[in-house]
This record gives sequence, structure tokens and C-alpha cells, in this order.
Amino acid sequence: MGLRGVIVLVGLMGTTWSFNMTTIRPEAVSTDTFARPETTEETTEQKGAVAEEEAVEDVMATGELNPSHYPAQRAAKVVQHYLNTRYGSPYKLFGLKQVHSGNAEDVADSGRKYQLDISVHEIISDTKENCSAEVFFPRGVKQLSPQVQVSSCEELLKIDANSEEEALYQQYKTNKTLRTEKRLPDSYGHIDPEMTPFWHLGIVASSFIMLNESTENTLYNVAQVANITQLTTENDQLKFDCHVLLHDMVSQEIPQWKLLFTWSPAGGVKVLHTEQLPHVHDCEKHPKTN
Ligand SMILES: *[C@@H]1O[C@H](CO)[C@@H](O)[C@H](O)[C@H]1NC(C)=O
Ligand SMILES: *[C@@H]1O[C@H](CO)[C@@H](O)[C@H](O)[C@H]1NC(C)=O
Ligand SMILES: *[C@@H]1O[C@H](CO)[C@@H](O)[C@H](O)[C@H]1NC(C)=O
Ligand SMILES: *[C@@H]1O[C@H](CO)[C@@H](O)[C@H](O)[C@H]1NC(C)=O
Ligand SMILES: *[C@@H]1O[C@H](CO)[C@@H](O)[C@H](O)[C@H]1NC(C)=O
Repeated sequence: MGLRGVIVLVGLMGTTWSFNMTTIRPEAVSTDTFARPETTEETTEQKGAVAEEEAVEDVMATGELNPSHYPAQRAAKVVQHYLNTRYGSPYKLFGLKQVHSGNAEDVADSGRKYQLDISVHEIISDTKENCSAEVFFPRGVKQLSPQVQVSSCEELLKIDANSEEEALYQQYKTNKTLRTEKRLPDSYGHIDPEMTPFWHLGIVASSFIMLNESTENTLYNVAQVANITQLTTENDQLKFDCHVLLHDMVSQEIPQWKLLFTWSPAGGVKVLHTEQLPHVHDCEKHPKTN
């Protein structure tokens, strides 16, 4: 799956690249070839439209939105992060499949509200469903995280991964300790199958940061989970220290974050601490130089 993701992405980047050389900085391209479940969802058509939009768009669109353009896509991405923070697990990972329609409006002086009809994908069970969502970006001196409400997503929320979660939990509670040896995915886009649930878990934990950090001007994905180290289990919660590289498609920044989080099937994912680290040095960003 990892490798397929890379191939798809290389194809997509090719398209975006030819659209406008100046909108994608060269150093970002190699980072973009990391497999990401979310990005494999996007069609070439959408990518092209997004890239084109970036060059012309300065003011925030209001009223009915073009579903494949940036404003609708950015707001819809926040819904994906929200679903992962609420319902994600090592065996449940949500992706944005498509935006069907979107509407944006100013709410007095307090912020902007997006109404969206989107289709969401639970990647592991390969379940897709149409959902309606409302995303509110508060406006203020201090940056506040967006507020999300999702409705009519019942099928996705019913997905039952309890037995897989329980088995993983028991193993790492008693018999094994996780310590990754390579980035997830590695420089070749590969992930050891045993590590895949932890890659998903790293993405779910990162969603708490991506939700918190999102604005109308960002579009975050996880580029790579740099490492995850399991710490001593406390109160029946598996505890992890994790470094991730996020990617904001709008600014082409690759912010690096450190996270401390816990997980158990009953308790879900809880983030205890997050810290943004200084920017990755250029040579570290290129997987081939590792
Ligand atoms: C690419 O984008 C820049 C601004 O970001 C613009 O000045 C330039 O005309 C665009 N080029 C093409 C080929 O669209
Ligand atoms: C989701 O919504 C789109 C657009 O409204 C529609 O074309 C599609 O058939 C819907 N899919 C399902 C599974 O209901
Ligand atoms: C842990 O290992 C022991 C012995 O190798 C085995 O009997 C037991 O089933 C394992 N437990 C889990 C939860 O994998
Ligand atoms: C979200 O941001 C707020 C304020 O910036 C901060 O206090 C909180 O710890 C952050 N939470 C996460 C999960 O990053
Ligand atoms: C995890 O990765 C970060 C940045 O890539 C690094 O600073 C840190 O030492 C690594 N931790 C472990 C335990 O490998």
C-alpha cells in the first residue's frame, strides 16, 4: 500500500508541478512523495484545481464555493482531523474522499462558518459515507482552533475494530515494547506491516495538532511519523513519545512536532503534551540523504 501511495503521489506531484513551478518549492517535492493515505484520495483533477486556485486566490471566498478549490478543501480537511481525534485508532483512520458542496459565510465579527457536504473514507475498512459538516473558524487576536460539527455519518461511526484493537493492546501491554527503527513510511515509501497500526496511531495523534493549528489558510497532512517510542504503561493506557513531520500544502512548510500521548481501546487516544520543534534542517528533509 505504501509503495502504491508513493507512485500515485509522484503522479499527482507531476501534475501539480507542471501547473505552476513557482507555487511548489523544489525541496518540498521529495517530502511530498511520502505515502499518505489522505492524499491518495485526491484525484488529479482536484489537485490541479487546487494548485491553480492557489495562484489567484487572495480574498476569502464567501457564498457558494467551488468544491474542488482550496477554501472548501481546507475547511473539509479540518473535518477529517476532527473525526480522527474523536474516533481514530490504530485500526480506524478517516480520510477526506471528496467535497460535494460547500458554502462559507461571515458570522458577524466573530469568525467564518463553512457548511459542507463531503464524503469521508474510513481507510482500513474501506467504508465511504456522505456526511454534512459545519466548520467554524473563530476570528480574534489569539488564534483559536476551529470548531467542528458533523452529522449523518452514522455508518462510519459504527465501524467496529474492537477485536484488532484489543489484540494489539494486549500484545504491547504485556509482551512487546514498541520502538520504531525507521521513519513511517521509510525513504522508499515502505512500512513494515507490523508497524502499520502505529503509523495510523501516529496520524491520529497528529490530528489533534492539525485540528488545533488549522486555519482557513492551511491544509495539513502528516508527511512522516519520524519515530514512536513506547513508554511505561500507566493506568492501563499505553503511552508513547512520538515525533512527526507535518506538511502544510498551502505554505509548503514542514513543521516538526513532538507529542506525548496515550492509547487504549477503552480510553482512545489522549494527547498529554505537544511541542513544535525548530524547523528540520534541509538535508534531513531529503529522505535519500539519510
Ligand atoms: C504562477 O504563479 C505566480 C504567482 O504565484 C504567477 O505570477 C505566475 O503567472 C503563475 N504562472 C503560471 C504559468 O500560471
Ligand atoms: C454522496 O453525495 C453525492 C453528491 O450529493 C452523490 O452524488 C452520491 O451519490 C452520494 N453517495 C452516496 C453513497 O450516497
Ligand atoms: C505473550 O507471550 C506468551 C509466551 O510467549 C504467550 O503465551 C502469550 O499468549 C502472549 N500474550 C499475548 C497477549 O500475546
Ligand atoms: C491547542 O492549542 C492550545 C492553545 O494554543 C493549547 O493550550 C493546547 O495544548 C493545544 N492542544 C493540542 C492538543 O495541541
Ligand atoms: C525521533 O526523531 C527526532 C527528530 O527526527 C529526533 O530528534 C529524536 O531524537 C528521535 N527520537 C528517537 C527516540 O529516536
